[in-house]
Amino acid sequence: MRIWMASDHAGFALKAHLKAHLLRRGYEVVDIGTHSEDSTDYPMWVHRLMEAFPPDEKAILICGTGNGVCMTANRYPQVRAALAWNAEIARLARAHNDANILCLPGRFLSPEEAERAVEAFIQTPFEGGRHQKRVSRINPHSV
Ligand code: RB5
Repeated sequence: MRIWMASDHAGFALKAHLKAHLLRRGYEVVDIGTHSEDSTDYPMWVHRLMEAFPPDEKAILICGTGNGVCMTANRYPQVRAALAWNAEIARLARAHNDANILCLPGRFLSPEEAERAVEAFIQTPFEGGRHQKRVSRINPHSV
């Protein structure tokens, strides 16, 4: 499985940690950037990722709170980006919301909790059923 990643400076350290974790686990990682802790603007990295991201794959976006990258990603109609601050929220984002992007708060999450959230996100299938109907109604004018 291929995992796409992007962050701003506030998410850089956690992105580097999770990238190493994913590579150790045998995943292919596409790291769009940023590549240092120099101050930068989170929307640019999300837009760069979205230029190439296939929506049937999975991505992890990280900024200080997770909110900036999440707001930016969710402007794209094919994206369901979910903010998660623990493994259970990440699991439910897959099981109930069929999220294809996980947004993490780099300044508020330990590396260990972030690893657990990422594992839950990657390994949990969408439940479908009643959730499929709800997910298909997320985009405006889709009802
Ligand atoms: C950067 O200081 C911070 O504002 C950014 O990483 C993010 O938290 C925005 O939502």
